[in-house]
Formats: sequence, C-alpha cells, structure tokens
Amino acid sequence: MSDGGTSRASVFERGEARKAAEGLSYLTGFGNEHASEAVPGALPEGRNSPQRAPLGLYAEQLSGTAFTEPRAHNRRSWLYRIRPSAAHPPFTRTGNGALRTAPFTEAVPDPNRLRWNPLPEPPAGTDFLGGLWTLGGNGDATQRTGMAVHLYHADSSMERVFSDADGELLIVPERGGLLLHTEFGRLHVEPAHVALIPRGVRFRVELLDDSARGYVCENYGAPFRLPDLGPIGANGLANPRDFQAPVAAYEDIEGPVEVVNKFCGNLWTATYDHSPLDVVAWHGNHVPYVYDLRRFNVIGTISYDHPDPSIFTVLTSPSDTPGLAGVDFVVFAPRWLVGEDTFRPPYFHRNVMSEYMGLIEGAYDAKAEGFVPGGGSLHNMMSAHGPDRETFDRASAAELRPHKIDDGLAFMFETRWPVTLTPQAAGADHLQQRYDDVWQGLQRHFRG
Ligand SMILES: [Fe+2]
Repeated sequence: MSDGGTSRASVFERGEARKAAEGLSYLTGFGNEHASEAVPGALPEGRNSPQRAPLGLYAEQLSGTAFTEPRAHNRRSWLYRIRPSAAHPPFTRTGNGALRTAPFTEAVPDPNRLRWNPLPEPPAGTDFLGGLWTLGGNGDATQRTGMAVHLYHADSSMERVFSDADGELLIVPERGGLLLHTEFGRLHVEPAHVALIPRGVRFRVELLDDSARGYVCENYGAPFRLPDLGPIGANGLANPRDFQAPVAAYEDIEGPVEVVNKFCGNLWTATYDHSPLDVVAWHGNHVPYVYDLRRFNVIGTISYDHPDPSIFTVLTSPSDTPGLAGVDFVVFAPRWLVGEDTFRPPYFHRNVMSEYMGLIEGAYDAKAEGFVPGGGSLHNMMSAHGPDRETFDRASAAELRPHKIDDGLAFMFETRWPVTLTPQAAGADHLQQRYDDVWQGLQRHFRG
C-alpha cells in the first residue's frame, strides 16, 4: 500500500510546512469546552443548531460518546462546515495494506518475551496511512473494546484524508515531525510529543522531514482521559493545561479528494468533490490534541522502593471495572533516582496486564542494549521480565547517590488483555531471535 496519491515534497515545500507548523497557536486544556472560529461570526451564539447557521455554513454534531454518558465523560463537538459530512458518494473497499484490526485470530497468542528492531525503511512514496503496520492487539473493534499496536514509517505526505471509525489514534512519533491537518485545525507534533486523533475525526498527515517513523495506539475503548490523582492531589503527572487543541482552520477546495474510512477493520475509499477538512468554526470537547511528554511531572520515591509504574500514566482508557484500564499510556521520562537501599532500575515483574514498550530516544534504564529507538518489546500477560544481567549486576553494586536519568524517553502501552500478534509481526525479519538471552546470564547468588 505504498501508492494512494502520495507525493514527495520539495525541500521548499517541507520548509514552508515547517514554518507553518512552528507558527501555530493553540487552545489549551484537557477536555475543555473549547470554541474556535476561523472566520469571525462563523460560530453561532446561544444555540448549537440555529435555523440558518452563520455565513451559510452547515451545523453538524460529532458524538464521541453516547448521548447519555455521564456529563464528566461525555465527548461531542459541533462543527460548522461548508458542506455537511453527509455529502459524500458511496465508499468502496480498498486494500488494507499492513493494517489489521481486532479480533486478532490469525496467530497463536505467544507467551514468550519478544522484541523487535525498528521497521525497515518504507518503499518510496509511502504516506502515513500506507505506512501503518500492525504489530498486534486485543479486544474487538466492533465491540469497542481493546486496542491495537501499530508502527508507521513514511517518506511522503498524505494527499488523501483518513478517518478511523474503529477507535482513537494516539500517535507517538519517534523520527520526523508531522503537521496534522484535521477537521478542527492543524497540529504540529515532533518526537517527544504525542498527538491524539479522536474516533471519526478526519485528518491528513504532512511530513516535515524527509522521513517519519513512530508508533500508534489505536484505542477501540473509552476515550483516553487523564488518570485520577488520589492522594497525589490536584496537580501532577500530565497537567491538563499542557494539552493543546487546534484553532479552527479550513480548506476550501473544490475538486477530487480521496477520503479513506477505516470501519470494522477494513479500509473503504470514496472520492469527494471537495475537501472534508472544511470546518470553519467549531466548539466542543471531542477534539484532537497534542502533548509534550517533557512536560510530564514525574513523581517517584523520596525514601525507598519505586512506586509501581502506574505512577507514570499519562492517559488512561478505563474499562467497566474500576481501576482496570483497557489501555494506559505510560511514559518513562527523565527523572531523578534518589531511593535509599533500593534496587533502582525497574524491578523483576510478572503482570496480569500486558506491556508493549517503545523507545523514542536514548536508552532505557532496565536494558543495557538491544532496545533501540523505533524498536519495541512485548511482555505479555504473566511473562517474566525485568532488568538484563548487565543492568542487574551494575545496579546491585552501584553507590546509591542521587542519579539523574536524562538520556532516554521510553513509553508503554499497558493493556488489560494479552496482545496477540499479527502474522507479519510474528514472522518479521526485524523480530529479534535471541531476546531471551538477556536474562540467561543471571547467576544464583543464594547463600542458604
Ligand atoms: Fe512490567
């Protein structure tokens, strides 16, 4: 799936796009009732759907949660657009490329610890959508439960527009900046930032560098929200004001535009006679956003032992069981380690939850080597993992002075169900063959 109307941008075009991206302004706050208009007077006042919307626009609601979900979790936005979304021709099936969707039934669930090198370079002309490659996942998109882990690699900007009815997309770039053109406006995202595209929101990805690579969590379940803070108090972890939503910006394009819709696992395409990114004004809380992971307020021990890594949760998608996430997005950001009489790297662990980890930059403090930026590891339900031998030996002997970990940025998608691989991930050339060796040298030290 390396075609699809993509193009390689000139150096000049990339430069212009980067200038535009760096000049963007944003609305701030997580889950706010934002309002924005690209043309003054485009937003109706005092009602959502007046008899005649301002400036001859169409009013349209986009519901991200059921009408009747509790107010605190309800997500919806009102869009004021040049044409209603309903004005489109029939969709027809197109190829799914390397994109797969839950339920994942093609491969046998694997209890082994697994680790991958980065995706190989994409075929020339690959855009973000064409470069999506599914590693695996769980749940069932048609039941709106579970999640998928995708990676992407691209060397071309999208000219087509994409939307995902199956879930929201948390984009975690590892290489290359992106300018996201969405129905709500434009977002700039770079490595060490994340972007979220809500379910159903149409968007197009423009590359700001020669190539782009990263990770995507497709969350079929409840929209990501900020975790409760409990005794931490009113502040900390990801602070709401650091989430940035776009200001309204629209395309007024008459002419053929390909729109691809992911629905219940398959891609469907239609050629519109206009751009669907034609929203002149909007208000609401079902919005795309970006977040700079370096703003994460890291909380850890100032006495002994580590809190569990749930303390690093940026976003959580709750399930019907209190405290049990469909998927958590967790970041291992630069932080001081000061614990006394404490084994400071992440501890040895077996977990009922399943852990997919990726690395955005640098190194991860539990693995001396082999876990590289753009790669990833999967420690499925109850599979035993932890520091490698070299890390264990070093950390067990280290003098416990205050120490700053500032050379890496790792993250985890932690999910309630085992991650079943796609056959392409289970048989990938970039799957490391001897990952278990990491733990083979751990010697017995028992002196009973
Ligand atoms: Fe773990």
